[in-house]
Amino acid sequence: MKINVIGCGYLGTVHAACLATLGHEVMGVDTDVAKVERLSHGDPGFFEPGLPELLAQALGSGRLSFATEPTPAEVYFLTVGTPQVTDGLAADVSFVHAAIDSILPVASLDAVVVGKSTVPVGTAAGLVDKLGGRALVWSPEFLREGFAVADTLHPDRLVYGLPDDPATACRAQNALDQVYESMLAADVPRLTMNYATAELVKMAANSFLATKISFMNTMAELCECTGGDVTLLAEALGLDARIGPLFLRAGIGFGGGCLPKDIRAVIARATELGVDDTVSFLHHVDAINQHSRDRVVDRALQLLGDEPEGKKVTVLGASFKPNSDDIRDSPALEVADRLHDQGAEVTVTDPQALFGVHRSFPHLHTESDITAALTGAELVLLLTEWQEFSHLDPQATIDLVERPQLIDGHRLLLRRNQPTPLWPPQVCSNSIGGHVQPNLPLGFRRVLEMQRTDEPQMYIDNALRL
Ligand code: UDX
Repeated sequence: MKINVIGCGYLGTVHAACLATLGHEVMGVDTDVAKVERLSHGDPGFFEPGLPELLAQALGSGRLSFATEPTPAEVYFLTVGTPQVTDGLAADVSFVHAAIDSILPVASLDAVVVGKSTVPVGTAAGLVDKLGGRALVWSPEFLREGFAVADTLHPDRLVYGLPDDPATACRAQNALDQVYESMLAADVPRLTMNYATAELVKMAANSFLATKISFMNTMAELCECTGGDVTLLAEALGLDARIGPLFLRAGIGFGGGCLPKDIRAVIARATELGVDDTVSFLHHVDAINQHSRDRVVDRALQLLGDEPEGKKVTVLGASFKPNSDDIRDSPALEVADRLHDQGAEVTVTDPQALFGVHRSFPHLHTESDITAALTGAELVLLLTEWQEFSHLDPQATIDLVERPQLIDGHRLLLRRNQPTPLWPPQVCSNSIGGHVQPNLPLGFRRVLEMQRTDEPQMYIDNALRL
């Protein structure tokens, strides 16, 4: 099919490359001339495992191209950003409007427009008139950074929010079914519903995930003050089929470009709808998330004897999660920045995100070599779950630092399979989530470690077999 993907950010670039891989003729459209130029040469401009290879393959096949203006197509995907407004909690949907304005001059009346951006409930219904009879579907995207290729090619489900008019709905559904033909043939569940439900699915999914994380972070704090072990607690909870084992990792809270802004957008929309009480718990979810970051800062200051000035602190991790160079609302960088503000001499190291740190936090000292970053540290904080950090050798690290004290913000080092030796408990005793008890069964540890995204390539390889 002939497809335009409007907006070549994270979502759009991955989506365009994946659709071309599935055999469609795809044009990625973005108003940023430099980005279009870069993408045309196969450079995504951000780190995402598997994407450069996929882009190269799709560009090489001749089925993928990039341009600054839309062209006539059968299907237009809207994949522009909906960031938080600067003066409130709501999502800014102006880029969605601009994307529609850009396609109207070239899109024929039988074209199908598919919104994938995360929007407040009610947005799609408000766009129908603007489209002047062209069919609109709202089909939210659930991809995770670090797994974007695999999640796009092999999603858990496809959600179609369809128009009320049965004939238009049928036409739109047929077009999307053709786009996703190979996924449907591989039995990916496809759910059809109205616009509001589709928009709510995305809002609800991210709210629920954020709530799970904040819940576990409150449990981590309870474990710390009672002698519990939050990893074992998560295991016991996760084995309950009604709860499930995923997204129960306690740590320093969620960050990134989605969960924090999306729960705030839900609050803002519920307030507009006059039902803010209904979602008031999300304020707590957000507050607990902030508290999780505060706790790490407090603990670090405590370990520095409440005299951080001039003390050398090494922060392992800058991106908001591993296998990504995205530093938007990164808990790791917030902690690093606050310790810097308090006068500590902070050095940040990260396998992929240091360029972004230079740009957005020029005052922070960065060091790409992990040995150099650790040398002479009086306190080490492990704040992003990169595989590189999990393989740190305890004794070699202890030999490098000035004082052997480490806050493991994700319990990454506390329990690892051999051959990595265990860390001496006294070095990590101030880590998040309480005492470590030595009886974690192997099966559950596999689940936890797979969630830790150690092997993104494995997921991509599996997905490409679709
Ligand atoms: C999220 C949603 O998962 C995805 O479906 C949606 O499309 C976009 O937002 P993403 O932002 O890529 O994806 O990251 P995700 O893997 O969900 O992690 C979000 C944050 O939660 C990260 O900071 C991560 O470290 C944290 N997290 C995740 C935890 O603290 N504990 C967990 O158990 C899982």
